[in-house]
Amino acid sequence: VSRAGAPGRAAEFAGKTVVVTGAAKGLGRAITGEFAARGARVVVVDIDGDGAARAASAIEAGGAIATPIATDVADAEDVARLADDLRGLCSGVDVIVNNAGVPDDSKPVLEVSERLWDRVLGVNLKGNFLVTKALLPQLLERGGGAVVNVASMAGTIAGAGGAAYTASKHGVVGLTRQLCLDYGPRGVRAHAICPGSTDTEVSREFHARLACFLAGPEAELIQGGAVLIDGARGRFEPAPGWAERDG
Ligand SMILES: NC(=O)c1ccc[n+]([C@@H]2O[C@H](COP(=O)([O-])OP(=O)(O)OC[C@H]3O[C@@H](n4cnc5c(N)ncnc54)[C@H](O)[C@@H]3O)[C@@H](O)[C@H]2O)c1
Repeated sequence: VSRAGAPGRAAEFAGKTVVVTGAAKGLGRAITGEFAARGARVVVVDIDGDGAARAASAIEAGGAIATPIATDVADAEDVARLADDLRGLCSGVDVIVNNAGVPDDSKPVLEVSERLWDRVLGVNLKGNFLVTKALLPQLLERGGGAVVNVASMAGTIAGAGGAAYTASKHGVVGLTRQLCLDYGPRGVRAHAICPGSTDTEVSREFHARLACFLAGPEAELIQGGAVLIDGARGRFEPAPGWAERDG
């Protein structure tokens, strides 16, 4: 990394290809826009193909290159097709942002159906694994890159989701750490972002800038972390019923 100062933001990711999942709307859309504003070619991946196409058009209207690809991250065949499409589209992938995720209904174990468990773990954790596994070779062929996994405050504490969501997001943090250990020596940096809430435009902008920072050269020595970005809400908040029980 040059000690002369950070490169101009508009060119920070020039020549880089950044793949963002769940990018049709919400946080994924904001992250994609921020990478594009910093010069990246972005790939807008979402199960909602029309939404991905709209998001990509809006980014291209701003002068960047954005390619929409409809993909269900929880479906191994779909993800294999995504990897093939990317090989035809560009000469490699530099950054993967695993953002696609679904909430649960904040229920404890006894009230979680197997169907809900499979859906939440399928998208949030298995989807992350499938996309990383399919695209990682394209990072390694480039000599490395960055994987930014969007976990949650629920990836570090209980009480910010239900059993399924909390388990899935703790899993994402664990997967991130293992990825870093296994592929760090080959130039792959992995980071987890743990949002408290991404429900306002301002908070999404903060998260998008954090994703860019972690994927960029200034974060070269930061590896395997789970960065809580929650406005200091990331403490254990007893669920309803605890206060009464403890008297
Ligand atoms: N909303 C919050 O306050 C909050 C808090 C903490 C963490 N997060 C995490 O941030 C991420 C983004 O959340 P958001 O609030 O922006 O969500 P969102 O619902 O606004 O957008 C999620 C996007 O992911 C897509 N998606 C869903 N399932 C998919 C699948 N199987 N394959 C591909 N795409 C799929 C959806 O179509 C949608 O475009 C998620 O991982 C979520 O768990 C959100």
